[in-house]
Amino acid sequence: MFLKYIAMLVLKESTVLIVTLVLLVGSYGDQSRFQNTTDTIERLLKGYDIRLRPQFEVQALRIGMEIIIASFDSISEVNMDYTITMYLNQYWTDERLVYSNDSDDNLTLTGDFAEKIWVPDTFFANDKNSFLHDITEKNKMIRLFGNGSIVYGMRFTTTLACMMDLHYYPLDEQNCTVEVESYGYTMFDVIMYWRNGKNAVMGVENVELPQFHIKEYKTVVTIEKLMTPNYQRLSLSFKLQRNIGYFIFQTYLPSILIVMLSWVSFWINHEATSARVALGITTVLTMTTISNGVRSSLPRISYVKAIDIYLVVCFVFVFAALLEYAAVNYKYWGGKAKRKAKKLREKNESMYDKDDSENKNDVSDNIELRDLRLSPILGIRNTQNFNIEVEENSNTPPSLRLGPSMPRAAVSRSYIGNNLMRRPSASGSYPRRRKFFTHFRQKAKNIKVRMPRVQDVNTIDKYARLFFPLLFIIFNISYWAFYLMQ
Ligand SMILES: *[C@@H]1O[C@H](CO)[C@@H](O)[C@H](O)[C@H]1NC(C)=O
Ligand SMILES: *[C@@H]1O[C@H](CO)[C@@H](O)[C@H](O)[C@H]1NC(C)=O
Ligand SMILES: *[C@@H]1O[C@H](CO)[C@@H](O)[C@H](O)[C@H]1NC(C)=O
Ligand SMILES: *[C@@H]1O[C@H](CO)[C@@H](O)[C@H](O)[C@H]1NC(C)=O
Ligand SMILES: *[C@@H]1O[C@H](CO)[C@@H](O)[C@H](O)[C@H]1NC(C)=O
Repeated sequence: MFLKYIAMLVLKESTVLIVTLVLLVGSYGDQSRFQNTTDTIERLLKGYDIRLRPQFEVQALRIGMEIIIASFDSISEVNMDYTITMYLNQYWTDERLVYSNDSDDNLTLTGDFAEKIWVPDTFFANDKNSFLHDITEKNKMIRLFGNGSIVYGMRFTTTLACMMDLHYYPLDEQNCTVEVESYGYTMFDVIMYWRNGKNAVMGVENVELPQFHIKEYKTVVTIEKLMTPNYQRLSLSFKLQRNIGYFIFQTYLPSILIVMLSWVSFWINHEATSARVALGITTVLTMTTISNGVRSSLPRISYVKAIDIYLVVCFVFVFAALLEYAAVNYKYWGGKAKRKAKKLREKNESMYDKDDSENKNDVSDNIELRDLRLSPILGIRNTQNFNIEVEENSNTPPSLRLGPSMPRAAVSRSYIGNNLMRRPSASGSYPRRRKFFTHFRQKAKNIKVRMPRVQDVNTIDKYARLFFPLLFIIFNISYWAFYLMQ
């Protein structure tokens, strides 16, 4: 067993030794092969002036561009930019670097060689921040062909500015570009072109983005008039369409459900105050939370976005449902209070009827008047200056007389009491005043008739059950029709 292990170890060692020997002998033997190429390169660089571009003073140098998209990393609405990793290949010919008659001859060299020959000063006009990958070595290469053609390739990640129009967010399409330009050389010196037209861009089909899909891409050549003469600019533009799926599940569906939840209130008995108020307030708060979540992933733009419209309308619906309950509640309790007051009044009237049956009309007139004076309707209140006369004769302190919070029954009683006491002295002015009161009562009645009155509180709920869903459906149809047809 032990012997076998030793034998194996020896065998392994000897194999390594033999391989090393073979390699050493091989390299010694082929030194001349290396020497010829080394000589070639040295010969090429001898007297080479790195400062002068190829075809200097002959013609403009044509530089072909080729982009291979490695990955589309992220798109940020907050910073209005996107990050992309790509391979950029630049093609040109340097007549000083011709080393063979055979154009198939080629030499692949590392990026360091780029420091020894002229290379274009290409830059990205909308670049915010870029870096060349340097694991394990600088991701750069130069391929030199026998006829002087050069391919200069590199791989880097860049963050490019992309001004987004978010009016239609999240049903929007964005047009983001890659702008390639020579920093220093104008069109007299350097002319850039997309190699093979649209085929110059590769790898777009394989790009996977979480929130977008690339609808189409275009390569365009434009002329930048920054300085005279002009610069040539190549732009590659992507049309990015946002995937609505995320927003449907994260924003639209929850909002719809919350709005529907607020309608549940219409089916709950109006006397269940705590249930209906709690439902209303919870839905309002939930809508606020949803819109806050949406806002946090967006820049603080001042214009209205499509999602804002939807959220605001949902909020209004939820809020209106809460207000509807306020209306129902007010109608119900207001009506109840009125009925109670009426009952009390009737009781009083029957009490004083015994004392003075003739005075009955006046009493009711006075009560009516007081009711109207305290009425929230300004139009009615303003036409009651004549009442002061009556008040001045009264013995009750002013604060008591005019206090609107005073129980109605108490007011009428004290008032009636006073009225009765001073009746003999003031009896002379009664017929005139009565006429006036009758006229006024008629007027008030007309106003009352003109005001819409809901007999049954449940009618409000009944209408709400119909109109809220109907309006919401109409809103949804118009919203989606408008934004999906654009
Ligand atoms: C190297 O160059 C010499 C002449 O320049 C030639 O004779 C020789 O064959 C070349 N060697 C190789 C390996 O190509
Ligand atoms: C290249 O070809 C030209 C003629 O086509 C010839 O004169 C020259 O010697 C050739 N050079 C080499 C290195 O083969
Ligand atoms: C040089 O050779 C390469 C490879 O064969 C070819 O693509 C290129 O067009 C040639 N360049 C010129 C200027 O002929
Ligand atoms: C580079 O040269 C090799 C042979 O020397 C050839 O097989 C290959 O196709 C050449 N590459 C290009 C891109 O021309
Ligand atoms: C993006 O916008 C530019 C400038 O308006 C336009 O030239 C280009 O065609 C657009 N790109 C796409 C893919 O529509």
